[in-house]
Amino acid sequence: MTDRIENDVDIDGKNQCQKFMCILTYGCQMNENDSERFAGQLKTAGYQFTDKLDQADLIIINTCCVRESAEKKIYGKIGELKKLKAVNPNLLIGIAGCMAQKDQEKIFKKASHIDFIIGTHNVHKLAELIAEVENKKEKVLAVWEQAEQMAPDVPTVHKGQVSAYVPIMYGCNNFCTYCIVPYVRGRERSRSVEDILREINQLAADGFKEVTLLGQNVNSYGKDKQETQGFARLLEAVDRSSAVERIRYMTSHPRDMNDAVIDVISQSTKICEHFHLPIQSGSDKILEKMNRGYSTEYYLSLMKKIREAVPNASITTDIIVGFPGETEELFLETIQLLKEIRFDAAYTFIYSQRSGTPAAAMPGQVPLAEKKARLQRLMTMQNDISLDINQSLQGQTLEVLVEGPSKNDETRWMGRTRTNKIVLWDKKGTEKVGQLLPVYIVNAQTWLLKGQLLS
Ligand code: 5AD
Ligand code: SF4
Repeated sequence: MTDRIENDVDIDGKNQCQKFMCILTYGCQMNENDSERFAGQLKTAGYQFTDKLDQADLIIINTCCVRESAEKKIYGKIGELKKLKAVNPNLLIGIAGCMAQKDQEKIFKKASHIDFIIGTHNVHKLAELIAEVENKKEKVLAVWEQAEQMAPDVPTVHKGQVSAYVPIMYGCNNFCTYCIVPYVRGRERSRSVEDILREINQLAADGFKEVTLLGQNVNSYGKDKQETQGFARLLEAVDRSSAVERIRYMTSHPRDMNDAVIDVISQSTKICEHFHLPIQSGSDKILEKMNRGYSTEYYLSLMKKIREAVPNASITTDIIVGFPGETEELFLETIQLLKEIRFDAAYTFIYSQRSGTPAAAMPGQVPLAEKKARLQRLMTMQNDISLDINQSLQGQTLEVLVEGPSKNDETRWMGRTRTNKIVLWDKKGTEKVGQLLPVYIVNAQTWLLKGQLLS
């Protein structure tokens, strides 16, 4: 049974036996889904949600360590919680996620107010862990170095009412030389097609309209079970036998995005026309040092195939600037390639040295000031392209899935196109969360579209 994350209690009405949980999530969608699985277990154990830290009986910080900047921010947040513990000594504070897996008991040393640490392979063990902390009245470290074959499913409380994440696999085998993920999330393990379909059909029965199939490299789905076309077959099965209206997936590795997958997507009416294919760099020399397993020539041929097979698709990417050995000349190759490909959007990152990864020890580390300057140049260039592409949508009517009121402006509603573009429109009052509605695009910006509701 799936459930929804919402503050479904009147805080002022808190009685003596009610317990409140607050989960702070950093990082990627995989972490968000882990938090949903924490929430599911805690709700089963009788906890209610609060977003007020000072009202919580239990706080979990679900952490990310992909870049140093995220880590610094999280350690700052952990420090801030110390004063809450001083006010409420019964408060339990736990650290979960990738940083918990990486730093383990170091966290206890840095922050003595932390009660427990739960690793990425132990997510399904949260309820047992909390019982242990409460019974023993001492700190508990629960970090398995390796995953069980496949962690058993646990109750999940989904954030939102329209769109849900569904993990299809855990871990990553790629070992891109800059990336910490394979060290903290282990090797690839695929869930069974039956379990995935059961979860999606339950979501559809609960009113969800959209699912995003999640994995660090979804295109590798099934390879741990010797299935070479596992992802194409899974997409086909989800498309055929699920009652949701829209299907998304993330993240794809360009090397593993094959013809069979593109074929299934082009034939389907439910799988959305959005491809997120992190290119990381436009220089063959850097791609090789990154151990990405493809060349720029291959990537360009992939773009051509996708654009022929799915003409209206949006294509987005991730880029790292300032990887070791990236000279001005090699950086310009990235700029040039982005101009040629014209992505709808690019998520751009400054290379961050992650200790233990091969790239951290490579010669030719780029000074921070230079990395920042390159990021700025890249973003300025890409923003112009994104705006230009979005402006070409002005005057079109697009199908939008209504997600709810805009976070920044209650008079507007927010939804997404099939191509994953955010659309805002003035509230009419007739629209309902979860509806698919036609919106006429009036105005385009770099990261969003503004429109008028037609029906
Ligand atoms: N430094 C900067 N960016 C990184 N990413 C992964 N590892 C690092 C790192 N060490 C980026 C990649 C990936 C995205 C999720 O995060 O672009 O696709
Ligand atoms: Fe990291 Fe590469 Fe795996 Fe993505 S594919 S999680 S960048 S190692």
